Amino acid sequence: MTSKELRQKYLEFFKSKGHAIIPSASLIPENDPTVLFTTAGMHPLVPYLMGEPHPEGKRLANVQKCIRTGDIDEVGDNRHLTFFEMLGNWSLGDYFKADAIQWSWEFLTDKKWLGINAKKLAVTVFAGDVDAPRDEESADIWKSLGVPAHKIGYLPKKNNWWGPAGQTGPCGPDTEMFYWAGAGEYPPESSNPETDEDHWLEIWNDVFMQYNKNADGTYAPLKQKNVDTGMGLERTLVALNGYGDVFQIDTFWPLVQKIEQLSGKQYKDGEGVTKSMRIVADHLRAATMIMADDRGIVPSNVDQGYVVRRLIRRAVRHARQLGLKGKFCADVAAVVAHIFCDVYPEVARNEEKIFAELAKEEEKFDATLEKGLREFHKIPSITGHDAFVLYSTYGFPLELTLELVHEKGEGIDEAVFAQDFQKHQDLSRAGATQKFSGGLADHSEEVVRQHTATHLLQQALRDVLGNHICQKGSNITKERLRFDFTHPSKVTPEELKRVEEIMNEQIRKDHPVHFEMLTVEEAKARGAIGLFEDKYSQLGNKIKVYFIGDYSKEICGGPHVEHTRQIGGITIVKEEAVSAGIRRIKAVLVDE
Ligand code: ALA
Repeated sequence: MTSKELRQKYLEFFKSKGHAIIPSASLIPENDPTVLFTTAGMHPLVPYLMGEPHPEGKRLANVQKCIRTGDIDEVGDNRHLTFFEMLGNWSLGDYFKADAIQWSWEFLTDKKWLGINAKKLAVTVFAGDVDAPRDEESADIWKSLGVPAHKIGYLPKKNNWWGPAGQTGPCGPDTEMFYWAGAGEYPPESSNPETDEDHWLEIWNDVFMQYNKNADGTYAPLKQKNVDTGMGLERTLVALNGYGDVFQIDTFWPLVQKIEQLSGKQYKDGEGVTKSMRIVADHLRAATMIMADDRGIVPSNVDQGYVVRRLIRRAVRHARQLGLKGKFCADVAAVVAHIFCDVYPEVARNEEKIFAELAKEEEKFDATLEKGLREFHKIPSITGHDAFVLYSTYGFPLELTLELVHEKGEGIDEAVFAQDFQKHQDLSRAGATQKFSGGLADHSEEVVRQHTATHLLQQALRDVLGNHICQKGSNITKERLRFDFTHPSKVTPEELKRVEEIMNEQIRKDHPVHFEMLTVEEAKARGAIGLFEDKYSQLGNKIKVYFIGDYSKEICGGPHVEHTRQIGGITIVKEEAVSAGIRRIKAVLVDE
């Protein structure tokens, strides 16, 4: 079966069961700054799983583009992927376990649909714990459909519970469907995914989303009982076509063929070659699809752009190991574009930009490698710390350092590298956390001064316009602050002038700035404003509240100046509409 047929059959089946077909959402989550990528079809649907009515109704289905970077080191085996397509159907407080399971079984086994031999399938259900009961209900439904008891495994939360997609949100126990991937046509009677995990390939997951995970780790029942399912398109094609390897399916094999042609090597030329070809194909496919979204992601050193950069650079490294010389990324990406342009129209729209970015990144990386090599050769005997400096300063990959060191018959202390690397990661993670909390570009002095000024701005707006003012967004770079807030009409020049005067008066009072960790009740009692659900100002069940003298009290992760005079002065340079009911102010620092 081809990928096109499988997508069509899936959507047609769920349409026949009363589902509306919705388009794939962007790979870049629109309303969730806490994660970089859309990791599952349910992710863009979170508000509707929480009870918001969906314009298309209570039964939805789609094919969703997904990226998961958690298993990136596993890519190169026969099943792990970075970009994949997920077939999904949802019930938003409509049908529940009986229909979901029955339809999954019908779609998998009925000759009119996939027609998989039931003897090759097994399932797992949730074993139960303090948060939710053992799912005998699902097991009984499977049995009623003819699945024998010995093909039903019971597994704990680690395996049979899905979500939330971020740190909090909808989640629940799930039941998973597996295809026999071991030797022989059929599995032995004693084998199921509970007893014999390695020989079963998970193809579909039906999640019963009836809980909400709170920030304190507890689970509360949701307003409605939902179903969220996800079927891996690539893995299902492997099962249907009897392949032992996901790279043989039609959304991958043309990439492998292209890489074979460019390198002059064959996919089957040995384990190392197979693995490198898989990495090149997977990584360039993922990088292409991320850049193909209309959100304009290009290789960079932050967020999604950084992931794209890493994917391209790792692909280039493996291509060089295959003996591939010169620029090649755009050639491979052209095959990706050809495969997906009919399915995801944004790919065709953006292909020229993608090819150009790939070529640029290859050039940069080649220059990096050259510089790194020069530095490498200057160091007589490389330590783990040197390897880290080569990595962090020159972007020189550890694997290359190791290879070169081994060629000289030496070794390095990888534990030292790992320690340095961990410290570096902790720092950048802390940076990312802060950034998301207030939209800070970095922690430079200018940004921190403007961050405190933003708190003054919000309070001054409330003084002048009223207490309906609420922050909707904030983004601060070295050059300017940008603050979005709720207000029904244009702010007049007189009002803006008054806001600016108040801010500068408060700055000149040289208020001390400090924070306290408070419970939500304490923070509310003391009149703090801000997002009470802001994850990044939370620590345990306390939240961080910043006080600017007695003028401003606001929930925030920081950082801030110590005294308001450190801000200098501030001028509002622009006021404009962002959307209905949301205004935006831009302001810059001025030296007093
Ligand atoms: N959200 C579920 C998954 O990704 C269906 O497995």
